[in-house]
Amino acid sequence: MRYDIVIRGGEVVSTRGRLVADVGIRGETVAALGTDLDGTEVIDATGKLVLPGALDVHTHFQLPFCGTRSADDFFNGSKAAALGGVTTFIDFAIQAKPASVMDAVRARREEADPKVCVDYGLHAGITEWNADRVREIPELIAAGCPTFKMFMIYKAQNWQSNDGDLFAAIREARRYGGMVGVHAENNDLIERLQAETDAAAYPGCYAHAVSRPAVTETEAIARAIHLAEAAGGALYIFHMSTGAAADIVRAARQRGVNVHAETGPHYLLLDDELFKRPDGHHFGTCPPIRKKADQETLWARLADGTVEVSATDTCTFDSRQKAMWGGDYRKIPFGMPGIETMVPLLYTTGVRAGRISLEQMVGMVCENPAKLFGLWPRKGVLQPGSDADLAIFDPELPVTITPSVLATCCDYSPFEGTAVRGWPVTTLVRGRVVVRDRGFCGEPGTGRFLRRNPPFAPAA
Ligand code: URP
Ligand code: ZN
Repeated sequence: MRYDIVIRGGEVVSTRGRLVADVGIRGETVAALGTDLDGTEVIDATGKLVLPGALDVHTHFQLPFCGTRSADDFFNGSKAAALGGVTTFIDFAIQAKPASVMDAVRARREEADPKVCVDYGLHAGITEWNADRVREIPELIAAGCPTFKMFMIYKAQNWQSNDGDLFAAIREARRYGGMVGVHAENNDLIERLQAETDAAAYPGCYAHAVSRPAVTETEAIARAIHLAEAAGGALYIFHMSTGAAADIVRAARQRGVNVHAETGPHYLLLDDELFKRPDGHHFGTCPPIRKKADQETLWARLADGTVEVSATDTCTFDSRQKAMWGGDYRKIPFGMPGIETMVPLLYTTGVRAGRISLEQMVGMVCENPAKLFGLWPRKGVLQPGSDADLAIFDPELPVTITPSVLATCCDYSPFEGTAVRGWPVTTLVRGRVVVRDRGFCGEPGTGRFLRRNPPFAPAA
């Protein structure tokens, strides 16, 4: 039996452990794991890890936001993904009311389909809950978008939902096995604290952190959890930043609430002292990066399985765009690049540092997101029948993170100067080599829109 491609002799990793094996690929799928497999093309992975292609379930490519548009478009963003071992991303189609969410999905697909070089899906961003949305939920699910994002902030953007709408959406999504995710921050409290915060009293843009203390997130997360509990539906917490919120999620799960949470490398590795620097606004995102103590709790909650997903919230604004803040912390274009560095950073600062195991890392960037977002077992695992999405990862390769080694069109990196050991060298998407020996060889338009399944059983 001859396979199209054989990945030879690497250590194949899943949440269940590691196995030195050949991966036989036929067409777009994994056909076999074995030894001495015969291939038309053989790629040597001896001494390397063979990871399932990672999923980044939170990106915002070419997003019109904060008076500009995020700088990495669907081509450059997906190229950066491939170079970082990420073979699937999930972006957002955010409703521009009064137009429908389906309109946003169609528009986003028109932007993305010709450009992407890895596979992608879309969360449906709901900004207006009414009878049209009730009708639209099954339509969105049929279109492959069974997960939703609602915003507990962004009143100024006209994106904010109230608690009644959030409750009703969670209850409605439950009927079809879908899941509502939230951007959980308390808008009213932030507005009040912003009005009371004298920005001039703080260096750099530290007032951003002062006006968004932990309670602005923990209160919103606790509230969303209560609503999900009452509605009996599934809830996902996007970009969770505080340790206290992770403890709230743990307590809720222990009492049986169907709640899931994501954090990301910026919350695990960066802290709010950075806002005091002259370039502190480069780190401006919301929720903001927090305290060192939050990092430790988030790592602990990743390790104990409370936080199931690492994602990046990639929303790239370069230094020229970030300069639009003009000294007013409320005007920072919120977001940072991150998709390309997620896996190497988790490997060095998580696995190598002994905070999580390699198998746990594969859980949080491969298996768990695939399961929670309706892509399992097509994505997130290397087993016969799965898509042949993989990253050959050199665990010894030293790389110092600087913009010059990254594909993002950002001229700074939030992780600038961080020395990591371990980086993806070769990446395949559905059996197609898109990165070879760290050189990008993918093509725009070869990635595919993924019609995802509802992650849960529909309510009876
Ligand atoms: O600051 C952030 N997170 N920007 C991206 C938009 C969002 O809220 O996810
Ligand atoms: Zn958000």
